[in-house]
Amino acid sequence: INYQRTTFLTSAPDIRALPADTGIEVAFAGRSNAGKSSALNTLTRQNSLARTSKTPGRTQLINTFSLDEQRRLIDLPGYGFAKVPLAVKEKWQKSLAEYLTKRASLKGLVVLMDIRHPLKDLDQDLIQWAIDSKLSVLILLTKADKLASGARKKTVLEVREATLAFMGDITVHAFSSLNKLGLPELEQVLDLWYGA
Ligand code: GTP
Ligand code: MG
Repeated sequence: INYQRTTFLTSAPDIRALPADTGIEVAFAGRSNAGKSSALNTLTRQNSLARTSKTPGRTQLINTFSLDEQRRLIDLPGYGFAKVPLAVKEKWQKSLAEYLTKRASLKGLVVLMDIRHPLKDLDQDLIQWAIDSKLSVLILLTKADKLASGARKKTVLEVREATLAFMGDITVHAFSSLNKLGLPELEQVLDLWYGA
C-alpha cells in the first residue's frame, strides 16, 4: 500500500459520527503524548496530516483518514492525561471500549507506548480489550531514539515477554518518528492487516 496517498476524511466528536462501518479500519491508540499523531505523519510522509503537540491531550476528536475506498486509518484521542476531568475520562473510556467491541471494520489496533514508560495500567486494559475483541495488536514502543540501542533492544524483549500473558496476536517493535526506526515493520504489519 502506498501510505503517502492517505487523505484526511473527518473529525468525529464520538464514535456515532464515524464513517460507514465498511471495509477495513486500523486504529492508533495510546496514552496522551505517546506519539500517535507523529507516527501517523511518519507513516504517511506528511508533516501535518495529524496534528501533533507538546501539550498532552491535543487530539480530542477521532480523526479519520482514508487510504482508499475500502481502507481507513484512525487517530484516537489519547488516554491517561491527568488534567482531563474524571467525567470526561470515564465517558471516553466507555466510548473507546464500545468502539473496540462494536466496530465491525476494525481489524487491528496499533498501541503506542513511550519506550521509556511501557505497559501502564490503561495500556494493559486496552490491550486486553483488544485481544478479547479478537483484534490483532501491534505495539509500537515510541520515541526509541531516546534510548541507546542496548537499552532499546532490552525493552523490546521485555515487552514481548510481558505481552505473552494476553494470549493474543501481538507484535512488538521499537519505533521512532524522528529517525524512522520501525517504519518498514509498521508498513509490513499494516499491509498484512489490510490484505494488501
Ligand atoms: P495526543 O494527541 O495528545 O494523545 O498525543 P499523541 O500521542 O498524538 O502525541 P504526538 O504525536 O502529538 O507527540 C507528542 C510529543 O512527542 C511531541 O512533542 C512530539 O514531537 C514528540 N514525539 C513524537 N514522536 C517522537 C519520536 O519518535 N521521538 C521523539 N524524540 N519525540 C517524539
Ligand atoms: Mg495526537
